[in-house]
Amino acid sequence: MANFKTKVCIIGGGPSGLMLSQLLDLKGIDNILLEKHTREYVLSRIRAGVLEHGFAELMREAKCGERMDREGEIHEGFFIADNGNMRRIDLSGHTGGNSVVVYGQTELTRDLYDARAAMDGTVIHEAENAALHDITSDKPVVTYSKDGEEHRIECDFIIGADGFHGVSRKSIPVDKIREYEKLYPMGWLGILSETKPVSPELIYARHERGFALCSLRSQVLSRYYIQVPLTDTVEDWTDEAFWQELHRRLPGDVAGRMETGPSIEKSIAPLRSFVAEPMRYGNLFLAGDAAHIVPPTGARGLNSAASDIYYLYHAMMDHYLKGDSSGLDKYSETALARIWKAQRFSWWMTTLLHTFPDMPEYDRRLQETELEYLFSSEAAQTSLAENYVGLPF
Ligand code: APR
Ligand code: PHB
Repeated sequence: MANFKTKVCIIGGGPSGLMLSQLLDLKGIDNILLEKHTREYVLSRIRAGVLEHGFAELMREAKCGERMDREGEIHEGFFIADNGNMRRIDLSGHTGGNSVVVYGQTELTRDLYDARAAMDGTVIHEAENAALHDITSDKPVVTYSKDGEEHRIECDFIIGADGFHGVSRKSIPVDKIREYEKLYPMGWLGILSETKPVSPELIYARHERGFALCSLRSQVLSRYYIQVPLTDTVEDWTDEAFWQELHRRLPGDVAGRMETGPSIEKSIAPLRSFVAEPMRYGNLFLAGDAAHIVPPTGARGLNSAASDIYYLYHAMMDHYLKGDSSGLDKYSETALARIWKAQRFSWWMTTLLHTFPDMPEYDRRLQETELEYLFSSEAAQTSLAENYVGLPF
């Protein structure tokens, strides 16, 4: 067995783990990151693409923002289409000039991996069977196997950034953690296509046949979604069927100018809201999807991970560089306060824009009224805009 010692052991090589590893390394805080898959496997995942202002700033602070600033697109608004008509939410106008960056999570994760390699960071791929030990002691341990050999890492802190299905949250005794969950009776069927995006800004479409979203990764790579029943599988949907259904749910002028083409990726994701409390147990800290999940409607998933990492980064700096552990002690409370606001916004956007099976007529009229109120009230649009560009960390 090989033994290692480090200050912080990070489990999970997605955006959360990589970002924290990079930020800590830049401050001279030694850390080891364990990822169970290969770099190629992690980068094969297609995920979200809207970055809050705060996330973009964190990428720049991590010295990983150069390609994002070069290739990402600044978006100052988006559209909401409702059964044929379309109105714009002016993000910049309602937030004093704030905006979001549209830049694919896959590319962002690639940039983080490249930055870790450039700093010769300790990122261990194909680290299998990670297990957490002595979590409540002042010297917790993580063991894992690689190439048939067992390894042991002694550390001060463990960061569980291993996603919803990871080992970290499940290592907390059931009587020490509370889980809150809401499942939605629909999924999102998403495709990537090498086509010109139909709109320079995102279009969120409410339609009696179901929700649709027009997004993009670049001016030659489009990302589209349609709401589908949870019982659907990708095999149920040919490209042609997808394009036909998407056209039905968009305003005629938008559908009429849409460039279609073969899908280069096609997948269905369920809609789920989930929060685990607290986000600390002993010297284990949960971050990102390991602690919380949102439906993708409000584009909060990656951005919620960002605020966790921001809080952990500053708390670890204060601990190691100033001997002040108050940030660590307050982490769970601070992170959850912002997480629940993202949960609320994601639930609100999802409830507003989706067609729910067996939806009572009253609820349908309520949706219509909510949209009418939104577009008749500057205050309502300001509320939506400040949540979408990102509440302060
Ligand atoms: N050991 C090591 N690594 C693990 C383990 C384990 N036992 N279990 C999971 N992992 C790895 C996964 O392979 C994955 O690469 O942890 C990583 C977790 O990454 P994400 O699931 O992307 O979670 P996170 O980094 O918090 O990023 C959140 O990703 O899922 C999207 O919508 C979500 O945009 C949000 C973002
Ligand atoms: C995406 O581009 O994948 C995307 C954009 C906005 C969302 C969800 C997904 O709300």
